[in-house]
Formats: sequence, C-alpha cells, structure tokens
Amino acid sequence: MTLTRDEAWQRLALHPDPTLEQLFAGDPDRMASLSARLELGTGEAEGAGGILFDWSKTHLTDGLLGDFEALAEAARFARMRDRLFAGEIVNPTENRAAEHSALRGVGRAASVEEADALRHRMRLLVDALHEGVLGEVRHLIHIGIGGSALGPALAVDALARDLPLVDVHVVSNIDGVALEEAFASCDPATTFIAVASKTFTTIETMTNARSALTWLEENGVTDPSGRVIALTAAPEKAVEWGVDETRVLPFAESVGGRYSLWSSIGFPVAVAVGWDDFQAMLDGAAAVDAHFRDTDGRANLPLRAAFADLFYNRIKGAQTRAVFAYDERLRLLPDYLQQLEMESNGKRVTVDGQPSGPTAPITWGGVGTDAQHAVFQLLHQGTHLVPIDLIASVTPGDVLDPSHHEILLMNCFAQGAALMAGKASDDPHRSYPGNRPSATILVDDLDAMTFGALIAFHEHRTFANAVLMDINPFDQFGVELGKEIAKRIAKGDERFDASTEALLKASGLA
Ligand code: F6P
Repeated sequence: MTLTRDEAWQRLALHPDPTLEQLFAGDPDRMASLSARLELGTGEAEGAGGILFDWSKTHLTDGLLGDFEALAEAARFARMRDRLFAGEIVNPTENRAAEHSALRGVGRAASVEEADALRHRMRLLVDALHEGVLGEVRHLIHIGIGGSALGPALAVDALARDLPLVDVHVVSNIDGVALEEAFASCDPATTFIAVASKTFTTIETMTNARSALTWLEENGVTDPSGRVIALTAAPEKAVEWGVDETRVLPFAESVGGRYSLWSSIGFPVAVAVGWDDFQAMLDGAAAVDAHFRDTDGRANLPLRAAFADLFYNRIKGAQTRAVFAYDERLRLLPDYLQQLEMESNGKRVTVDGQPSGPTAPITWGGVGTDAQHAVFQLLHQGTHLVPIDLIASVTPGDVLDPSHHEILLMNCFAQGAALMAGKASDDPHRSYPGNRPSATILVDDLDAMTFGALIAFHEHRTFANAVLMDINPFDQFGVELGKEIAKRIAKGDERFDASTEALLKASGLA
C-alpha cells in the first residue's frame, strides 16, 4: 500500500532511538553500508577521482533509510526530479523552470544547446582577455551580490590560489569600504570590471558599478565603459546601462541567482583559472547531475544526504546544521551554502500555501582546525543538537612539509570520533556526552572537477530536501520587503515606526 506523505513522516517518527555507540555495536559493518563513493570520471575521464561520503556516524539506519525511501515515494520525488531535468516549471510561484544543470550539459535538449552557445560566446571573451586582445588586463573587479557573488568568490578562492591568470577581486557589499579595498589592490590602467547581476537592477551592484567606472575615469582611463563586461539574464538592460553589446554575456532567465555559478556569472572563475579548469568544474557538476538523475533511493547520494538532514531537522528538532571544511581553500563554503540552503529552503508554507512545519535549519560553519579552537566547545558539551558535515581532501592543497596536512586530517577525523564517543567523567564539567552526529565528505583531491561535483551535490541535496518537505526552493520573496522599505525610506515622504524614525534621525538620514 502506498503511503501518504503524512503517514510516511509519522512512520519515521516511530523509530527507536539508539545511540551511535549502540548502532556500531549492533552493526560493526555500518561504515560499509552507510558510506559510498561517488566516482567522477567515466569513459575517457575514468580515474578522475571521486568523493567518499560517510554517514556511519549519523543515526541513519537501514530501517530509517527504508522509511525515508517511502517518504520520497509519497512525495513523488522521482517525478519532481524528472520535471527538474526536463526543464518543466518547478518554481510555480514565479512560473519558471530551474535549469542550472543544462549549463553543465544535462537537461532539456534545447536549453543545453542554448547554454552551449552562450558558453561559447563567453569563452571567446575569456580567450580574448587572456590573449591580450582587449589590451593588458591584470586585474578584474567582479561586482555582484548574493548568487552573483558568492559562487564566484568561493570558486576563485578555492581554485585560483596559486598564480591566477588574472588577479580577481569579488566585491558585493554596498559599503564603499569593500570597493575601496579592491581599488587599493588594482592598477586602473590594467583593470576590467565585470558587472554581474541576473536582473541588472540590484541597487548595491549598480551603485558599485557606477563608482567603479568613476574610479577608472578619475584615474586616467579614457573609455571606462569599454572596460565593462556584463554578466546577466537581462542583456537589454545592460546595453541600456551603457555596456557594449559585444561585452554582454547573457544567461537564461530559467537559471536561479544562487544556482548561477555555471553560467556567465562564472566568468571571473574562467578568467582566474583558465578555460580548461572552468570546463572541468562544469564536468564535475555534470557527473553529479547524471548520478542524481539516474539513481534511485538511498543509493542517490544527494537524496541520502537529505534523508540525514531531515532526520535531524524534522524528527529530532535540530535547528541548525554546521559545515566545517578542513581545507583552507573551502573557507568560503559556509557563506555559499548559507545562501544556497537558507534562501532556497527558508520557507514557511508548502507549495500549496499551507503551513509547512519546520524547514531549512540555519546553516553555519567554519574552517578546521580554526573552528575547533572557537566553536567546537558548544558542539562537544553544549545543549544544542547540531548535526555537522566535515569536509576534507586526501591530497593536500599545499606543498609544505606533509605534517601540515597529516595534522589537519587527523584533527578532522578525531573530531568526528570524539563527538560520537564522548567521554564519561565523575566531574560533570569534564564529561562529554558523545552521541553527537557527524557526516564526513572526503574528496580524493580538491581539483576543479571535484569542486564542481561538491557544489552540485549540495544543490541537489537542497532540492531533495525541498521536495521531501513539499516547499518551493526556487523563489525568495522573503528578501523583497526589506528592499521595498529601503526604497520608501529613500523617498523620504513617509513616517515609519518610532524606533526606525529615531535611528534615521540619529544617523542624519531624516
Ligand atoms: O536579494 C536576493 C537576490 O535576489 C538573490 O536571490 C540574488 O542572488 C541576489 O539578490 C542578486 O540578484 P541579481 O543577480 O539580480 O543582482
């Protein structure tokens, strides 16, 4: 008998509550059944490396996984996934598809073809820039915010650490301090500006872009507009704004802002790391697309990650989840995931507009081992349940004495073990309760391909969470009200609450 979604959730809540220690005692082979490797290369790319996912230190069991599979069935997960890849409307409130996978070559044929053509156009400009056809270009200031900045910032920081082909600065904040910081590191005579905005209307980005042009002009650049490249789904607006048509790199409206790294929004990544690595990043993501599209049940790894997320979030009431990258190159990953997960799934109603129950937990995190000396106290002895992900690379990112990487990895694994095992003591201050869950994601090597795969894994995990919770992950109306009130404040003909009025007065704005 097929369960309803509600019945499937109810069944999940009825499972017994063994500790992690009891789970390992009952099934010493847990590591084998609850871990899996995702190989990234097939065919010619065989041996491209892969990613090991280990959920054995979570409370997932065979029985829970079976009931989560029943939930996925009740939620018509396979049907929703088909609709995603077919380019159908999966964002009903905005009547849009969500075609980020088409940018990687996986999706509706017409969308893939269009994305290929746009990528070719982008490649011509990237090559021209590298070959000096546009004059000497040593710096690129990439101006965008939210999804138009977080992905590029993360990818450039992760992949272009040693000798980037061009020095890239990502500026998002409207606070002029951010732009001034970039100016201080760039020579205006050899600087290009990328203006990245899906809508080409975002106030922070347009204000920063204007100031960047002024900076170029004030520093002797005779044709500042000629230094601008626009990355947008609204090409006509970019042209209206003054960008030469040949310097506009469009992408499709059906690509969401926080899923747009793979489109022309990734231009600074290609500029910094070169085309081959940019393409490898897309290929890594495409390998995860194919896995996610073609694999059912618990063997589908983004789906299995969503099972773990929902177990802690919905069944155990965890209000946050934390991600610790034991890899300096991924220090911006928590920022990126915060937008991906919280802007996507921070919702309060179902697709049909009914109260949804708990949705996305708060995503937070940091970099190991730094975080151990800052926030891990709470993880070990605090009162909150915080499921964590630990992410590390077998291959070091540095060429220093191997002890650096060995200590890094040993610490990563030690934290997972310590959180799980705990330690009894007669002194309550020195006692560790243990039974605290962690999942480990261990990549063979954090190259461009693996990086792309890691990001796509999180995109699909976010989608899977949304489908199981019956919410729309692709709209973000919650960000609008604040923007609207800022505009009304700027207009100056309205009174607001007493607190806001007092603050406006105190800062000289009213
Ligand atoms: O304010 C939220 C948001 O709409 C994000 O979803 C988006 O990534 C960001 O603003 C930037 O938007 P745009 O790319 O249109 O400038």
